[in-house]
Amino acid sequence: MSASPPGTENPRAAPKSVPHVARVIGSLRVPGDKSISHRYAMLAAIADGVSHLEGYAPGADCAATLTCLERLGAGISRGTRITIEGRGVLGLQAPSRPLDAANSGTSMRLLAGLAAAHRFTTVIGGDASLSRRPMRRVIEPLTRMGAVIDAIEGRPPLTIRGADLRGLTYRPEVPSAQVKSAVLLAGLHASGHTTVVEPAPTRDHTERAFRAFGAQVTVEDRVVTVAGGQRLRAIDALIPGDFSSAVFWLVLASGTPGADLAIEDVGLNPSRTGVLDVLRRAGARIDVDLPPAGAARGEPVGRLRVRFDSPNSFEVAPDEVPAMIDEIPALAALAAMQPGISMKVRGAAELRVKESDRIARLGEGFRALGASVLEFPDGFTIEGRGLRGGTADAAGDHRLAMAFAIAGSRAAGPVAIEGAEAVAVSYPGFFDELERIARS
Ligand code: S3P
Repeated sequence: MSASPPGTENPRAAPKSVPHVARVIGSLRVPGDKSISHRYAMLAAIADGVSHLEGYAPGADCAATLTCLERLGAGISRGTRITIEGRGVLGLQAPSRPLDAANSGTSMRLLAGLAAAHRFTTVIGGDASLSRRPMRRVIEPLTRMGAVIDAIEGRPPLTIRGADLRGLTYRPEVPSAQVKSAVLLAGLHASGHTTVVEPAPTRDHTERAFRAFGAQVTVEDRVVTVAGGQRLRAIDALIPGDFSSAVFWLVLASGTPGADLAIEDVGLNPSRTGVLDVLRRAGARIDVDLPPAGAARGEPVGRLRVRFDSPNSFEVAPDEVPAMIDEIPALAALAAMQPGISMKVRGAAELRVKESDRIARLGEGFRALGASVLEFPDGFTIEGRGLRGGTADAAGDHRLAMAFAIAGSRAAGPVAIEGAEAVAVSYPGFFDELERIARS
């Protein structure tokens, strides 16, 4: 149902040539954090008052959230900063048309939590990729809270008949920040308390955002509780750079001899930065500069410096996976681009239900560039042997497009990427930055 999902339903653009990168020196900034942008926009829409968001993520995913919120009655104006006129808790209005979450799982799952609490019917659909993704993980808890939700064999579109919700204690089967957040957003509108007991820690942006907007939430170990009926107050906020976007540059520097790169004003929330340990094990030298006052609305912000040092083969242990689920394509690029280096990951079956089947598609793409990849149901091993070049298909997946481009920029021969326009989902300026580095 989406008008133009990057890389999936449009007639295909010509494959994008990847520039060759010989040195990586200097500093850069990345666009605003996608996870924080979604959450601030949603909370601003149900807050009392007018919020101003600076540094809002520029990609198509966060634009989809804004359009959905507009259809639910929030007043939104776009510009260098986003202004959102909140409707107050339980103040959203019945949409006259279905909501379109485009390629964005976060938009669909979190908005489902909000819609479930409003006594009207909301239909939410998305592009071909999102329409294949599992939604039972949010349907089940929201139904137990009192909403009635129809889907097609557990997949989008969702038809959500909202209700007066009851608080719930929920133990998700898979670690998922999206599921936790959908339940907590519903819980903010429910009677009594709502608790999520996580099987493993996941990013805690929702908990921090609740506090930023003045709501109380308690967190003890992996148990998160919110009381229903709290009001939110509008905020002015500066959204930090997206760590997951920064990781592509960290990888490029970690795998390029002589590299010395700084990334300024990037979000350093510890629930997102687990991959730094893996990069260090893989031989990069990384300094983290987190000024004591470096937090914006409870989200740590700082500077990273990464230097090429002494490359090693590396593994990602299953218990490390939830904290770096979005970074695994970038880590695969690090192994692929360096001769004699391999990477192994297991316990990452969730990769199969992301924007693409990231185990199968990653294997196909890196093999096309010359790597050897062995697939498991829940992971892979990859060995680059120094990439020779070729054409890789991003399969409409933004993170695969960027992973192939980073590795490809160090290949011996020319590299092109099919479906490279998918980067617009999270990082529209990605190829401009890569060209800039290649020229410098
Ligand atoms: C996200 C949570 C993760 C992540 C996604 C963004 C979020 O998904 O992969 O890119 O903003 O909550 P899951 O909750 O499905 O693991």
